[in-house]
Amino acid sequence: MYDLIEQARSVVAGRIRIRPRVALILGSGLGTLADQLDEAVVVPYAEVPGFHEPKVPGHRGELAVGLLSGQPVAVLRGRFHFYEGYSMQEVTFPVRLLRALGCHTLLVTNAAGGLRADWQVGDIMRIADHIFLPGFAGHHPLIGPNDERFGPRFPAMLGAYESDLVPVARAVAAAQGLTLREGVYCMLAGPSFETGAEMRMLRALGADAVGMSTAPEVIVARHGGMRVLGFSLITNLALPDGSPANHAEVLEAGEQAKPRFAALLRGILARMPASPDSSAP
Ligand code: HPA
Repeated sequence: MYDLIEQARSVVAGRIRIRPRVALILGSGLGTLADQLDEAVVVPYAEVPGFHEPKVPGHRGELAVGLLSGQPVAVLRGRFHFYEGYSMQEVTFPVRLLRALGCHTLLVTNAAGGLRADWQVGDIMRIADHIFLPGFAGHHPLIGPNDERFGPRFPAMLGAYESDLVPVARAVAAAQGLTLREGVYCMLAGPSFETGAEMRMLRALGADAVGMSTAPEVIVARHGGMRVLGFSLITNLALPDGSPANHAEVLEAGEQAKPRFAALLRGILARMPASPDSSAP
């Protein structure tokens, strides 16, 4: 794994002129922020060792490096999902690569179903914490031999989403007149949406939103000592007495929220403290 990361790192590093410090992973329909980079260099996933081509509509397959709100960023346009058949190691490979390229911060977004009747489609939730259900079933990106060059054998996940970026996110949202929800994101493997009984179970477990990504990437980012800030766009409500979810409405909600979401992320990048807190190298 370390050698493959090193190969991928050297391919990408040979193409880019800016050393990225912030990694962005953009979820369903939100990838266009990467079109707004200054001095962008785009590397198709097909040219990066260890990468695959995303297959889900709404997900492209490119790594873009450039400046966003003046910050050197690397944006993954399209991510790999466990439900596509990739292993948890494959799903999280890009995070390892971005860490190796110099990113100390991960800004991650996803589309999620809202489990709360008092929330609305289009709401943006800061991920305050996660529940990683596939990990409970043995599907975990850190299973197997641990390479200490990446991080410790038993990394802590308490406070994974807490950092000096949280007050920045709240302040930027407030300045933009945006109601920022905060809650617990639960990852399920998918690809089927939840039954009513599963929705009730997730709510009873303390989850506020449900989706099919993000938790493995965050675990690997924290394993590598990265600072993490995460957001879910509530693209549909996952309520037992509601209507069934479908992928088209997920993409449509992403489309609608794109300008607000992009403004939030750009505002955060513009006000991001220059150096990360002490938990990140
Ligand atoms: N459930 C799971 N994943 C999702 C949903 C949902 O309702 N909406 C968007 N991703």
